Order: sequence, then C-alpha cells, then structure tokens
Amino acid sequence: MARKRAAVLISGRGSNMVALIEAATAADYPAEIAVVVSNDPQAKGLDFAKSAGIPTAVVDHKPFGKNREAFERALQSELEKHRIEIVVLAGFMRILTAWFVSQWDGRMINIHPSLLPSFPGLHTHRRAIEEGVKVHGSTVHFVTPALDHGPIVIQAAVPVLPGDDEDSLAARVLRAEHRIYPQAVRWVAEDR
Ligand code: GRF
Repeated sequence: MARKRAAVLISGRGSNMVALIEAATAADYPAEIAVVVSNDPQAKGLDFAKSAGIPTAVVDHKPFGKNREAFERALQSELEKHRIEIVVLAGFMRILTAWFVSQWDGRMINIHPSLLPSFPGLHTHRRAIEEGVKVHGSTVHFVTPALDHGPIVIQAAVPVLPGDDEDSLAARVLRAEHRIYPQAVRWVAEDR
C-alpha cells in the first residue's frame, strides 16, 4: 500500500498533530505524516514532532506582513519540497487565500471546535456556553475559500454539562477531536 504523504500545519500546542502522528504509526494507516509545518517558530507542537522523528519546517508569516499570498507561496514550496499530497490543518491560525485553497482543492481538511455551521470563528466554547446549547462538538471539513465552511467529513458531538466552563468544555471537545481527526485523515487518504 502506497501511503499518502500528508503535511500537518500547526500554529501552537499541536495535540491534534500528536494524535495524527500516533495514528500514523499503525502499519495499516493509509497516510504518513511527511512533514509538520508551523507559521510560528515557537509552536509547542514542533518539539513533539521532532522528538517523534518527523521532519519539521517553519514558515514564519511575520516577514511577509500583510502579503498573505507571498507567505503562502513560501508555504507551498515547502509542501512541494516534501511531495505532499494531503494538507491537514490542525490549529493553523492563518486565514488562507483563494489562491492557496485552490492549490489543494479536495485535498485539504481542517478541524474546527464546533458543530458547524454553528459557531464558526473564534471562542467557540465560550459562545456555546453563552448560547445555552446542550450539545457541542467538533467538525472536520474540506477547506473552501469561506472561513470554517466546506463539505463536512465527520463530526463529533459532546454534551454541554451543567457547571461546565470554557475549559472543561474545551477539554471534552479536544478528546473527541483526537478520535475523529485520525479517522477523517484515513478516509481522505483512502479517497473515500
Ligand atoms: C483545536 O481545538 C482545533 O479544533 C482548532 O484549534 C485547536 C487546536 O488544538 N482548530 P491543538 O493545537 O491541536 O492542540
């Protein structure tokens, strides 16, 4: 079985990246994490990736200022260098241009911490509690030019419990994310 070469793009902690790296150690997993790329040189996730022997790269967005496409061209050449076939956004905190999205049409997925189309954008757990929803969760979707939008691959629902605060709810959602993201990448790598 030829495993698909996946890049995981991060900006921070990288716990979903860890779940993907661990899933990809299984002999029958259809994707390999060929590189982890961060736009932030300080991203914690880089340390874990290195310790796991995964190639890492930093493409810092700051020198590019407001020129998003120039940043993305640098990112794109890093992905090409590693012969990437699937792009997996895992807490990657950059808004992507239509140009970059079109390079990866149908081959780039994102995980968002809400049951889309509810709560796109930031602070999803706080907003879910404020709205009084009883069910919250996470969504893996293909990336389209519209932020936090695009065909849904998988969702996980978790209850919002009495007494939950942002942190307890976030932790419950994160545990669900670590289950569904490896499953979603498996399906995409299998062209399902
Ligand atoms: C996750 O909650 C994910 O849904 C969102 O950013 C968070 C990243 O967490 N896009 P981590 O860096 O994977 O721990």
